[in-house]
Amino acid sequence: MSEKQQIRITVNGIEKQLEVEPRLLLVHALRDELGLTGTHIGCDTSQCGACTVLLGGEAVKSCTVLAVQADGMGVTTVEGLGQMGNLHPVQEGFWEKHGLQCGYCTPGVMMTAVGLLQQNPNPTEEEIREGLEGVICRCTGYQNIVRAVQYAADRMNSANSEAEVAASGSGDQK
Ligand code: FES
Ligand code: FES
Repeated sequence: MSEKQQIRITVNGIEKQLEVEPRLLLVHALRDELGLTGTHIGCDTSQCGACTVLLGGEAVKSCTVLAVQADGMGVTTVEGLGQMGNLHPVQEGFWEKHGLQCGYCTPGVMMTAVGLLQQNPNPTEEEIREGLEGVICRCTGYQNIVRAVQYAADRMNSANSEAEVAASGSGDQK
C-alpha cells in the first residue's frame, strides 16, 4: 500500500486536513472522508457530471481529480451553495422552474451552472445548453434545467444592478 499524504483543502469555506492515499479521488475524499454525500457518483467513465464541484472556482468533475491535486485549494460542493431560507439563485431557479425530477444529477448540474454563470453571467440559451453538455440528466429532458439557469442568471444580474445602484447612491452622499 502506498504511503498516505497529508493534505489541506478548504471545503465550503472551512479548512480540512486529511490523510489520504495518493490515488484517492476527490469525489471519494468528499463523500467518504468528509461525509459530503451531496456530491454524487453516476458513472465510472467520467461522463455523467453528477460529481461536479467547484475547484479553485472552476467546475470540475471530482471523479477526474485526485484528492492530492486539490491540496491547498478551495472546493465548493452543493452543500456550500445555500441553505433553506437562503438559497443560491441557481437552487432557487431549480425550485421555481421544476428543474429536477429524481434529483440524482441535480447537485452536479447546479455546480456546473454556477461555474458557467461565473464565467458568463448572461448566457444565451445555446450557451447554457453548451455549458451543460458535460452533465447528463436522465429524467427532465433539459428544458426546465435551461429555464432554471436562465432564472438564476436574471436573479443574479438584477441583484448586481441593485448593488451597483446602491453603491452609486451611497457614493453621492457627502
Ligand atoms: S461520477 Fe460520472 S462524471 Fe464523475
Ligand atoms: S433529475 Fe433525474 S437524472 Fe436528472
